[in-house]
Amino acid sequence: MKAQDIINKYIEFFKERGHKQIPNAPLIPENDPTTLFTSSGMQPLVPYLLGETHPMGKRLVNVQNCFRAVDIDEVGDNRHTTFFRMLGNWSLGDYFKKEEIPWLWELLTKEFGLPKEKLFITVFKGGSGIPYDDESYNIWFELLKKEGFNPKEKIFAANATKNWWSRSGVPENMPPGEIGGPDTEVYYKFDDIEHGLNCKGDNPAWCECGKFLEIANAVFMQYQKQQDESFKELPQKNVDYGGGVERLLAAIENENDIFQTPIFTPTIKAIEKETGKTYQEHCPQMQIIADHLGGSVFISNTNIKPSNKEQGYILRRLLRKALDNFYSLGGKDISPIIHRIVEAYKETDPYLEKNFEEIKLTILEEEQKYKNTLANAKEFILKKYKVGDEIKGIAEISAEDAFILYSTHGFSPTQIKSLGYTFNDQEFAEKMKSHQSISRAGATKKFAGGLADHSEKTIMGHTATHLLHQALRNMFGIKLHQTGSSITPERVRFDFNFDRNLTPEELKKIEETVNQKIKENLPVHFEMLPLQKAKEIGAIGLFDEKYGQTVKVYFVGPKTKGQRPYSAEFCGGPHVAFTSEIKSFRIIKQENIGKGNRRIYAVVGN
Ligand code: ALA
Repeated sequence: MKAQDIINKYIEFFKERGHKQIPNAPLIPENDPTTLFTSSGMQPLVPYLLGETHPMGKRLVNVQNCFRAVDIDEVGDNRHTTFFRMLGNWSLGDYFKKEEIPWLWELLTKEFGLPKEKLFITVFKGGSGIPYDDESYNIWFELLKKEGFNPKEKIFAANATKNWWSRSGVPENMPPGEIGGPDTEVYYKFDDIEHGLNCKGDNPAWCECGKFLEIANAVFMQYQKQQDESFKELPQKNVDYGGGVERLLAAIENENDIFQTPIFTPTIKAIEKETGKTYQEHCPQMQIIADHLGGSVFISNTNIKPSNKEQGYILRRLLRKALDNFYSLGGKDISPIIHRIVEAYKETDPYLEKNFEEIKLTILEEEQKYKNTLANAKEFILKKYKVGDEIKGIAEISAEDAFILYSTHGFSPTQIKSLGYTFNDQEFAEKMKSHQSISRAGATKKFAGGLADHSEKTIMGHTATHLLHQALRNMFGIKLHQTGSSITPERVRFDFNFDRNLTPEELKKIEETVNQKIKENLPVHFEMLPLQKAKEIGAIGLFDEKYGQTVKVYFVGPKTKGQRPYSAEFCGGPHVAFTSEIKSFRIIKQENIGKGNRRIYAVVGN
């Protein structure tokens, strides 16, 4: 069966039962700054679940494109994806459990023809002050008895981690005002999967090995969290049903891996072709590539560009993870894969085809950036491990250098390994731990002053101020120091103590020095150092306030024995990884701001 047929059948089924079809809402939510992506069909309906009147009535149905960033690291098995299509139906204070449950059974077993003996049910057993959903249990009990089953073998009760649904998860995690409720889920059992060794057994709520696939979730959205942490019944009882098209298709085809259904097989085949490897031998990697590139196609279609923040950051993470896996399988050209993804979705999402060139450009531009980043990281390692003209075996690098790759470029330990380097995991973990505890202590925030945001341009400007600072001190002596700064994507503003205007020649010289350092493509990295050590190596401390016993110091330039890098400053970051990323530095004016302080304005990145 095709995805489009499933969608049509589902919509028709509920239209016949008095539902009106509502549109697929944009993947980037409108008027909702609290969430980056639409991650379920109910998201645009919250006001109506709370009691507002919906213009299309009390019974609604649709198919919604969803993206779940929280699931990025779950992908790599037979059933998890970040992007999926959710079939949804809603009752806004109209019908409730006794209609929804029998309809659901009819839909799955009659409309889609799923064998009854393969379906299993879970319901909410109560907890967090909310009672057991015996109403749902009893409805299922009677229904399954009539169907000739022993209901006790088909229905399982589980706690809130499994059978409670809200956008924030379990009741304890919900903020005041959030709505949620108990749910009942339907699972499809694959006979050809054996339970894994660590699996908690033949119970759909607890099996973790993919033998049971959750294909349907009816949430009885009837509670709202209160300021005092208690739960109040909503003025109306709602149904919020959601089920993934991809999973339903797997159940219909009795195919225990969603990546082996027609939604994904063309993409998987393209990946096999481009890498020359087989899916069978490289399932997790190919699942990651297929899902992440698919998600990237849909996000790129919204005009989001890869960046360091919000949706752009998620897009960057998806793409880079997909590329890591693709390259590690020997893949070179991802264009044919993007093409196949668009082909696979063009019946349900025809606009992808129209926007194909633009989507491809967004993805390929990011690929180029990533390739540069990878090349810079490799160059950094090569330079460090070069002895004379010989390059030492660089299979093993120090944990410190691995940490530099992490702290400068955000390469995760797994990515560093996929670059072909090994290091001492234990030592790396220790560095990471000390870094994290210091970050948690608020150090990053304390030193991060002066940055308008963390956009690429601002980060470039930030590193440029370190170069400027050092260039000024080299020219006028170490009594000169920064007295303030403000960095926005548009310009850099840097204040320092100096009692006269700089001459045009001096300004030119400073500008040239900074550009020279940009051209040298110096690596930037930070280290957490004991305060005393930081002082000894001559790191510049910018503020008078009391530092903790450990400080974060940013270095520009390689750290070779006995030699100080070009610049070393107490700072919270963030910074570019290599100075060439700043591209250029131009001073646009200087000002006398009084009290013996001067101000320089400059622009970067042109
Ligand atoms: N809102 C429910 C879900 O996303 C149906 O699973």
